[in-house]
Amino acid sequence: QNTRTGSVAVFANRDEVSRHLADWLLKQALEKTDGPFSMALSGGSTPQGLYGLMASEPYASRFPWARMQFFLGDDRFLPHDHQDSNSGMLQRLLFSRVPVPAENVHLIPATGTAEDAARTYEAELKRFYGADTFQPGKPLFDVNLLGLGADGHTASLFPGQPVLKERTAWVSTCVPPVAPYTRLTLTYPAIHASRHVVFLVEGESKRDVVAKVRAQDPACPASGITAMGDLTWVLDRAAAPED
Ligand code: 6PG
Repeated sequence: QNTRTGSVAVFANRDEVSRHLADWLLKQALEKTDGPFSMALSGGSTPQGLYGLMASEPYASRFPWARMQFFLGDDRFLPHDHQDSNSGMLQRLLFSRVPVPAENVHLIPATGTAEDAARTYEAELKRFYGADTFQPGKPLFDVNLLGLGADGHTASLFPGQPVLKERTAWVSTCVPPVAPYTRLTLTYPAIHASRHVVFLVEGESKRDVVAKVRAQDPACPASGITAMGDLTWVLDRAAAPED
């Protein structure tokens, strides 16, 4: 089912957004009993409130961490202790503060060349999935949490970049002209293999791009995101299109 525009949930402010998402993720994780609950997490600043909330009570002691598997949707190709590393941010805000087994946390490698790191990360995804190609109806992620840039990028799928045409690889490098770092990102097919895709977007500055993507503006890479299951927008009021 290629859900494109999906449903929209709007909350009064960022705290309400984080609380709703933490509650929803907790419910999904607790209800998943036929195997691990896998998530691909977004980088950037928007989701940091959610990550901090998940690492605090009552969530820290309620999530079934040992039955959860964490991946990243993209990262900058930087040492994990670099201030702009998504892997480092997640390690700091979430993974170092909850009892998730280290082997359940799949950070994006930052050693060797960017291409080596992409191949290594892709191999890790395939090992977890248990196959080298996507099986119909078999998601790789239960939840894929995505952010949205003002230029319509999501993960590190930037406008005009070759990675937008990638239909075979699960992970690719991307050197966006606007961002200072080489990126590693899930490709469209890998993001599609998600039971639930959730766009988490907040702030007045994103209102226009949310409206563009929901109208399927082809200039926005996020317009091409589909889900194997459903796609939901979780917004604060500032980012929500005017009714
Ligand atoms: C990244 C993210 C990227 C992010 C958007 C929105 O590595 O930066 O994966 O896709 O989600 O750029 O970023 P903000 O939440 O900081 O606005």
